[in-house]
Amino acid sequence: MGKFYVTTPIYYVNDAPHIGHAYTSVVGDAVTRWHRLLDDDVFFLTGTDEHGLKQKQAADDLGISPQELADRFSVRFREAADLLDIQYDDFIRTTEPRHYKAVQTFMQKIYDNGDIEKGTYEGLYCVACEAYYTEDELVDGCCPIHTGRPVELMREENYFFKLSRYEDRLLEYYDQHPEAVRPQTRLNEVLGFIRGGLQDFSMSRSAFDWGVPLPWDPSHVAWVWFDALPNYITAVGYGEDDERFDYWWPVDYHLVGKDILRFHAVYWPAMLMAAGLDPPKGVFAHGWLLVSGEKMSKTKANKITAAELVDDFGVDAVRYEFLRDITFGQDGDFSWEGMLARYNADLANNLGNLLSRVATVVGKKCEGAGPAPQDGSPLQTIAADVYAATADAWERVAPHEALEATWRLIRETNAYLETNEPWKADPGPVVDAVMGDALEALRIVSVLAWPALPKTTTEIWRRIGLSGSPADQRLPDAAAWGGYPGGLSVEKGQPLFPRKQAD
Ligand code: ME8
Ligand code: MG
Repeated sequence: MGKFYVTTPIYYVNDAPHIGHAYTSVVGDAVTRWHRLLDDDVFFLTGTDEHGLKQKQAADDLGISPQELADRFSVRFREAADLLDIQYDDFIRTTEPRHYKAVQTFMQKIYDNGDIEKGTYEGLYCVACEAYYTEDELVDGCCPIHTGRPVELMREENYFFKLSRYEDRLLEYYDQHPEAVRPQTRLNEVLGFIRGGLQDFSMSRSAFDWGVPLPWDPSHVAWVWFDALPNYITAVGYGEDDERFDYWWPVDYHLVGKDILRFHAVYWPAMLMAAGLDPPKGVFAHGWLLVSGEKMSKTKANKITAAELVDDFGVDAVRYEFLRDITFGQDGDFSWEGMLARYNADLANNLGNLLSRVATVVGKKCEGAGPAPQDGSPLQTIAADVYAATADAWERVAPHEALEATWRLIRETNAYLETNEPWKADPGPVVDAVMGDALEALRIVSVLAWPALPKTTTEIWRRIGLSGSPADQRLPDAAAWGGYPGGLSVEKGQPLFPRKQAD
């Protein structure tokens, strides 16, 4: 048992939650649920990013105060997380007093250490990114991230964070900890950026006041990223509870989209070093979720919310789709048709069908009482291999591989039933043995698939007569063959995942 601290980005409140945000949160939730099964002491953090010019402008457009905007939309992100059964341990908002306090302590520390200095800056600013770009980073004169969005010339007298002083220390850190940015291709991107030369950046703004005031000069507020990134230390007690902070920090991974890799893997570790703190142990950047091959955008009106998908397919199916159909780290394409195909194949046919067959045969041939599995069953070694492969994949944050591995046990169990055809045989020890094995496989699958399908696996657990829930199980013991005791009453129930037609 160890500690395991994982974060999602904190999401901007000027936009409604969509499946892009849901994607990161579901991955974080599933990975941390896996570690909960391993009996790790888990802390999973998510929340909302509420300050800065972009939020202020969005509030102005709606004719409301930025605090009102933040209050309205932060709730929607929390509801979106709850809808998808995201089991966060804390939901942080950057407008909370605890965060003001921590950010001010953090900034003051860096200022006292001499890595924040006053200066003048003129540059090309993308309001959507809240970041400056150089001429050669622009694409057709526009922001490289927000395609087609013009940048604005800004000139400000500001405080600067002396990022240029950290080139060598960052390179040295990544040289010693190459696993700190994953996947490997992202590390190369980060190293390339650092080697290209790091510029000091302006860490304060004085043109507007929607932010955390600098303690030594309250006529400035912190630049939004200088306020946002420290949410990860606020939530574990920075400046407030040293013992708690020392226990959780450094974080095990920040899960982020590739759009914000540079902030997490270059700026943030340097800021931490400047404050005398350890950099993150890991930054895991995933790719972009596209919708039928295109980026989601307001103009294309192709934003999909998780709620729409949940209406069509149910919560667990949405979680499963994100985890199973997208290779974590790479861009992935979401389409309704693709999701339907995956749903019918893996959930309706493989898993749903296995449970329904088992319950039906146990009802007809075993008087509804689930028999115990056989020691030495042909499924036993498969289950052991499946556990090893599943565990290895979750450890590497490869949910698609983990679920592929777990589904092997489902397929093999269906094949085992088809070979033995217990539905054709007379009741007796042969049928009992086969059905006990199938029930045991279902028990193991319920534990291994719980991180992805918390509701469904809990229901399977109940229907096969087990008490408690997969959530209470601990690995590796719970994956060992022979845990199903036999003699429990097995319930048929409605199909877990009714087959769906395209319409
Ligand atoms: O950047 N595909 O917030 P944000 C995959 N507040 N992931 C996506 C996605 C998509 N199409 N769209 C969004 C911010 N995401 C800052 C972060 S952290 C200290 C501050 C996910 O609301 C992905 O994780 O723009 C991406 O990095 C994040 O949402 C950006 O959310
Ligand atoms: Mg964004």
